[in-house]
Amino acid sequence: MEKILELISREVEGAFAANGYDRKFGRVSLSNRPDLCEYQCNGAMAAAKEYKCAPFLISDKVADSLRDNHLFCTVDSVKPGFLNLRLDKEYLAEYLRQMHADGERLGCEKSKEPRKIMIDYGGPNVAKPLHVGHLRSAIIGESVKRIGKFMGHTMIGDVHLGDWGLQMGLIITELKERKPELVYFQEDYEGEYPEDAPFTISELEDIYPTASAKSKEDEAYKEAAMQATYELQHGRKGYQALLTHILNVSVSDLKRNYENLNVSFELWKGESDAQPYIPDMVQKMKDDGFAHLSEGALVVDVKEDSDTKEIPPCMILKSDGASLYNTTDLATIVWRMQDYCPDEIIYVVDKRQELYFTQVFRCARKTGLVGPETALKFLGFGTMNGKDGKPFKTREGGVMRLEYLVNEINEEMYKKIADNHIVEEEEGRKTAKMVALSAIKYGDLSNQAAKDYIFDVERFTSFEGNTGPYILYTIVRIKSILKKYQAEKTLPESAQILAAHSESEKALMLEISKFNAMMEAAFVDTAPHKVCAYIYDLANAFNHFYHETKILAEPDAAVQAGYICLLDLTKRALEICIEVLGFEAPEKM
Ligand code: ARG
Repeated sequence: MEKILELISREVEGAFAANGYDRKFGRVSLSNRPDLCEYQCNGAMAAAKEYKCAPFLISDKVADSLRDNHLFCTVDSVKPGFLNLRLDKEYLAEYLRQMHADGERLGCEKSKEPRKIMIDYGGPNVAKPLHVGHLRSAIIGESVKRIGKFMGHTMIGDVHLGDWGLQMGLIITELKERKPELVYFQEDYEGEYPEDAPFTISELEDIYPTASAKSKEDEAYKEAAMQATYELQHGRKGYQALLTHILNVSVSDLKRNYENLNVSFELWKGESDAQPYIPDMVQKMKDDGFAHLSEGALVVDVKEDSDTKEIPPCMILKSDGASLYNTTDLATIVWRMQDYCPDEIIYVVDKRQELYFTQVFRCARKTGLVGPETALKFLGFGTMNGKDGKPFKTREGGVMRLEYLVNEINEEMYKKIADNHIVEEEEGRKTAKMVALSAIKYGDLSNQAAKDYIFDVERFTSFEGNTGPYILYTIVRIKSILKKYQAEKTLPESAQILAAHSESEKALMLEISKFNAMMEAAFVDTAPHKVCAYIYDLANAFNHFYHETKILAEPDAAVQAGYICLLDLTKRALEICIEVLGFEAPEKM
């Protein structure tokens, strides 16, 4: 369906043209004074300059031509030259009826030029537990992916595991200290390696921090870890077998954690998968004359004349020939292009890595790893802070594990829900999890991704205000009204959304009608917060309507049936939105 703003603009543009003015002045926008009107057009102000006359002369003429237009109930020309517009109730109702008839998509058309977009998000590190720093990438990336899918694009999520580098050597070194007898450490071992991992996930999670701490104090230990890393990367069989175990144990734990967050990935590739592509890539960069030695390291210059700040060269190999985080990201681009040839790659990463990605992107373009037809986009997110305004920590000041955070909020939610005494224990737990997830995700997504935000458990879990639970509460309220209606009556076939009977009903209808434009903008701007803003306004408009309207007690059957259709449409719009945000609503709460 065409966006309602387009339809309105077209009429007003036509009226400008009919009066001899350029159409372009007829663009309409949402009113910024909802008390005065619903839509507005300020084009007469600009047109006045071009046609050298008073703006209100133009707005008056245009308003006259629009007066009988079936889209509007009022068109006011207001000095000095504004056009204030209100939509005709019947026209608005018809627009909503068409949305409603388009059951799954509510009039939001899929993109006419579907693209293939890879999205790099999550970015967990193997053997290190997920911490809250990983939460934002997972939540934002998942939502961006779902919005893209809804708009008809092929979205391929890749978790891009951090499974390469010193952390692996550290784990191997610590494991060797603890269990030196394992066959993985015997250099002359020729047999098959055991199928079962020589550690559990909880051991693994203890091994890494221990090793990391020791390496900071003990030079020899660090030396050993670096040596182990080197040997692993140069094909030592026992270590590679250990790497496989570390990966397996860690990945199944990560999958469980992500599942709890309603986050899933199409690809479980990691940094290690990029390693085989490095030698050829580096060779080509050298052959093509892009890479040169600088203080022993191999670098590619990426500064540009228009830079306002210094962009350092992109380092490809260290002076000892070792590859870096950069090298891995570049080689990852190589296989992504080779195997998937995406139209775009989006990276959902902490915004502190922005300069780094500028270097990587420029290097990839300059050296021809990606052509001009592939877009590279960095979607940097801000820090999740605690109430003290500093990065979120545990009460003891340590790094908060994601799992603990989620459990804490589940518990908090369960207490609230149990207080309501409407659900059984088991169902209560399930509901609490759903509501808790909405609190976490909405709390995050309702902010612009690039901004830091304060993770405020009390506020996020509240059933009132701009929160996930408030949105779910609204959906549950609608579901319950629909159920009560259905328990007593069957919706007549002739039921349809009718022209609004009250201001609050019209306000609700106006909010709903913005659905397709909102979803498109959320995709184009990779901005899940636009979906949140829409559902918050929609939920408010619905609740206002609900408080002012007797729905189940409405005596006129046709009016009542119209309300039920409108409620159903509201519910669907809210449900599609929370689906793309990555959470669901329970039946009761
Ligand atoms: N593993 C990294 C971290 O924990 C994030 C990876 C981001 N993605 C990328 N392609 N570099 O900071």
